Amino acid sequence: MSFQTDSQSNFPRHVAIVMDGNGRWAKRRLLPRLEGHRQGAKSVRRAVEFCRRNGIEYLTLYAFSTENWKRPQGEVSGLMKLLMQFIDSELEEIHANDIRLMTIGDLKRLPPHVVEKIQAAIEKTSQNKSMVLNIALSYGGRQDIVNAVLQVHEAIQAGKIEQSEVTEETFEQYLDTASIPDPDLLIRTGGEQRLSNFLLWQSAYAELYFSTVLWPDFDDAEFMKAIEEYRSRQRRFGMISEQIEAEGRRS
Ligand code: IPE
Ligand code: IPE
Ligand code: MG
Repeated sequence: MSFQTDSQSNFPRHVAIVMDGNGRWAKRRLLPRLEGHRQGAKSVRRAVEFCRRNGIEYLTLYAFSTENWKRPQGEVSGLMKLLMQFIDSELEEIHANDIRLMTIGDLKRLPPHVVEKIQAAIEKTSQNKSMVLNIALSYGGRQDIVNAVLQVHEAIQAGKIEQSEVTEETFEQYLDTASIPDPDLLIRTGGEQRLSNFLLWQSAYAELYFSTVLWPDFDDAEFMKAIEEYRSRQRRFGMISEQIEAEGRRS
């Protein structure tokens, strides 16, 4: 039976994951780093299935950061190849499960043949309604914010909006994530406790969960642990417990 993301079950609507630890997973086995990324792709499939099954509406996966361009060229091109393979092997099933694919980040920096494949996949799944799989590719939170500032500036110059109309709500409409809600739960695997430039604005009130499990080993049981931890927390958004409890009684 699948769960509903209503206030009863208290499931997150949007989960964002920093999929870290592929390299260490491989190193421990004396394998090339790329083998870790290959195993990591299997975890991606598993995580998508988990979310679809449990009624989580949005899953954002940090697949490649703006800083990851600094990695050795062989690793970068290997990751691009894996991304292509992932789309080739998973797209049909993603589509059959009514999942819409989208990306955030600077796709222009990716090789043109990769961009074409991604855009075709986005197009094919654009009408799907049951879940959004959002892949962060060449994504950086700071870059996202700077781009938004530049677009707001342009809109003001063009007379499309007034400076006085620039609020948090209107500003957000210029971020890459404009069409989706902020993440409720942000998970990082691999043991590091940092954001590494992921969804900086959007995570202002996300619940953070750090797992020491390396991404290729992150399975349904680990995912459920993160969900259970999330469900046990009280999100106060600056208020006090009593206010949240009163709100809960009203709804
Ligand atoms: C995360 O795993 C995947 C990407 C950044 C693409 P890493 O490759 O960072 O793995 P570790 O941190 O070296 O173990
Ligand atoms: C963050 O992991 C980026 C992705 C998971 C895509 P990194 O491994 O690049 O982060 P740092 O360098 O350890 O902060
Ligand atoms: Mg890492």
